Order: sequence, then C-alpha cells, then structure tokens
Amino acid sequence: MEENKKRFLDELFDFLRIPSVSADSKFSDDVFKAADFVVEKLKAAGADKCQRFETKGYPIVYAEKMIDPSLPTILVYGHYDVQPPDPYELWDSPPFEPVIKNEKIYARGACDDKGQMYMHVKSFETMMQSGSLACNVKFMFEGEEEVGSDNLDIFVKEYKEMLQADVVLISDTSIHSVETPSITVGLRGMSYLEVEVTGPNRDLHSGVYGGAVANPINVLCDMIASMKDEQGRITIPGFYDRVEELTAAERAKINEIPFDKAAYKADLDIDELEGEEGFTTVERTGIRPTLDVNGIWGGYTGEGAKTVLPSKAYAKISMRLVPNQISEEITQLFTDHFKAIAPKSVKVNVTPHHGGTPAVISTDSLAYKAASNAFEEGWGKVPVPTRDGGSIPIVSLFQQELGLDSMLLGFGLDSDAIHSPNESYGVFNYYKGIETIILFYKHFAKLMK
Ligand code: BES
Ligand code: MN
Ligand code: MN
Repeated sequence: MEENKKRFLDELFDFLRIPSVSADSKFSDDVFKAADFVVEKLKAAGADKCQRFETKGYPIVYAEKMIDPSLPTILVYGHYDVQPPDPYELWDSPPFEPVIKNEKIYARGACDDKGQMYMHVKSFETMMQSGSLACNVKFMFEGEEEVGSDNLDIFVKEYKEMLQADVVLISDTSIHSVETPSITVGLRGMSYLEVEVTGPNRDLHSGVYGGAVANPINVLCDMIASMKDEQGRITIPGFYDRVEELTAAERAKINEIPFDKAAYKADLDIDELEGEEGFTTVERTGIRPTLDVNGIWGGYTGEGAKTVLPSKAYAKISMRLVPNQISEEITQLFTDHFKAIAPKSVKVNVTPHHGGTPAVISTDSLAYKAASNAFEEGWGKVPVPTRDGGSIPIVSLFQQELGLDSMLLGFGLDSDAIHSPNESYGVFNYYKGIETIILFYKHFAKLMK
C-alpha cells in the first residue's frame, strides 16, 4: 500500500470534487457522475459485474468478486451521496474543493461517507494486487442515504438472492478517539416530521391585530417548548413506554469510555451541556431518545424590520429513537399529541417524513470478533463497543430482509463535523481505515473456517 498512498488520496480528492448532493435536484447530474466514478474505480480495482442499477431515484452501484464459494462473503455497503453544504459562507475553504490542513481532509463528504466508503474500494484493490483477498466480496453503494434510502429498500427486497452474504460491512460511523478505538454496536432510530401551524387567513399588521389574534409562530414555540419538561424528558404521552431500560451494570459498562467533557465542550464552544436528568452525556446520545427542532420558519426573515403577524409557522422536528421504540408508533403519538395541545386559535397539520428503526448489534459474533482482532492487530488496542447517536436505517432493513447483521467498522471522529460546515476526515483515519478493513477480511476468513 505504501507506494499507492498518494494516489489513494488523489483519487479520493477527485471523488470529493463531485458535488453529489442527493437532497437538492440542482446537483442531480453530479450524483449520477459520482455513481459512474465508483463503477469505474471498482472496475479498475478488479471487481466483476460492476454496474449501475437504475432506480426511480439515484442508482445503486453494485460489483462483486467471487473467488471461491467455500469462502465467506462480505457485503460492503456505503453511500456516495452527501449532505447539502449550506451554509456556504461558513466554510473556510469551498466544500467541493478538498484541501488538507492539520493532517485532515476538508470537504463535504470527506468523512460521511465518501472518504469512508472509498477506503473499501482501496482495501479491495490492495488485496487484489497482493493476491491476499481471503473472502468473497459484494459491493453495494447507494446515492440516497441522506434522503431516506427509499429505493435501496426496494432494491434489497428485489435482489435478495444476489445479495446473499455472511455479513454486511459498513464504514459510516465513528470511533471514540484515535487513542480509544471503538466499534459501534448501536444506532438510534428516527421519526422525522414537519408541522404547520395556521392562524389567521392572511398575514396581518402586528399593530392593528397584535394582542388579539394568536400568532402562529408564538404558538408553535409554546407547543415545542412544552414537549420537554424540566428534567429534559419528552412529554408526549406514551413516548417512553417501550424504551429499553438498561441495567446498572450495562450502564456502568457504557460509561467506562474515557469521555472528556471539557474537550467536548471546548470543541463546540459551549459552557454547559444539557439533557435528560440522571443520565451522562454518553448515555444521552447512546441509549436515550430525543426530540429536536431541525428548522423553524415563518413570518418575515428578510432584511430590516417588517411588522407582521404571520398567518403560518412551520417546523421540521426529528426524534431519535432507541430500542424498542417503533418509528411509526412514535410518529403517531407525536401527531396525536401535537393536535391535542394546539390551542383553538390555530389549526395544525403534521406531515411525516422518513423514519428509521434503531439497531443493536451483538458483540457475540464472529464478525465482531474479527473486527476486534483487526483493531487489536492494527491499533495495538482492543476496541470498546459503543452506541452511536446517529441513524443508519438500512441496518435494520438488512437484518429484516437479508437476515444479516451489520458490522459497523467506522473510523470517523465526532469532531469531523459531518453534516456541518468544514467537514473533515483525518488522513491518518483514511489510511488506517484501509489497513484495518484488510485485517478484518483476514480475521473474518480465519474465524469462519
Ligand atoms: N453516517 C451517518 C450516520 C451516523 C453518523 C451514524 C455518525 C453514527 C455516527 C448517516 O449518513 C446519517 O447522517 N444518517 C442520518 C439518517 C438519515 C435517515 C438521513 C442521520 O443520522 O441523521
Ligand atoms: Mn453516512
Ligand atoms: Mn449523513
């Protein structure tokens, strides 16, 4: 790999230069371009059957290398789409012109997930070149992860046979730190909805009517505020009914991770943390559900001041779910509650967006053991199992439809600023990730014998 290091980075840079933003149709051509880029690179690395499977949306890139039916098969999943880069003005360098600073690659998608999925292409190439590929491998890369993976759902159900494997391997999560490598064994689920609050039938003069007519923005703010109590608990009736309560021993285990609160706050420039009373920060993001407003708008937000009592107010709200909460059920509970607490002075409308089932991954599998061994060999440390706060809804789809567990072998860091301006990915993490993936193949093949 040594002699290829520079090229591996150059190629990733080419990949990062393609603005494959799935949420915004203005980038549509580029999302297709990114898919073609991946097909070409898989071909060049020596994969067979490299192709684009067209969907109603963006294509799924598939390729495979079946070397021996008696060997285990790894199904690699990743996504070549990225989040919108907005707000542009907060980037120190343009989001689609990757640069290296402080030994980190800065670009949208550097970590989530182009940098991490491309590690798999380069590990594969390295193993092909050295003749050390010890497992069969199938690649499945999608271009709609950041918008809900609707078409992957259909694809997986349709091509169950083709996707047969022993494990799904995904690099789209993070490690705790370079000093304390970790393996993700839990992901939160999600319910995402949009709400609309309507007051008067038109925008009004806030002097003529203000004080007498309900202002939908004020009302929406009150409603949102009331959905969390003083203890930081969500007040939607039934919300916690199914929440898995961990034992004291399990909680103690989760808190063994060396969490540096001061560094965490310093990274975010905040003086205090908040959250559900009685739980640590690690627990709040790992094993507890949340409710967050992702965006709120209405009225006048242009330059200067306009005195207006708006007719409508909107918000996008997401809830992160934990085992055994059910996304559809939580969406319904939210909707019922939101309607119940709306004052008579307004009308409300709730539109569900996507959902996602939480995932827990057993540490008691050969795949986990192989990943643990890979870290031990490559990093000189036994990785700790952690639960991440983010969501990868397709993990539960793979469990359900393919009967496959996923191995979440991610190498990002919380400080990589995924979904934020100045997203980055450590050059060290990129190379070390490639190495660790190669070690995973080796250990998995050995253990599966
Ligand atoms: N890779 C992330 C999820 C992630 C990040 C998991 C860090 C664990 C640690 C993924 O691309 C993502 O952003 N998922 C979305 C959900 C999706 C349905 C839009 C999320 O978590 O908001
Ligand atoms: Mn991702
Ligand atoms: Mn993402």
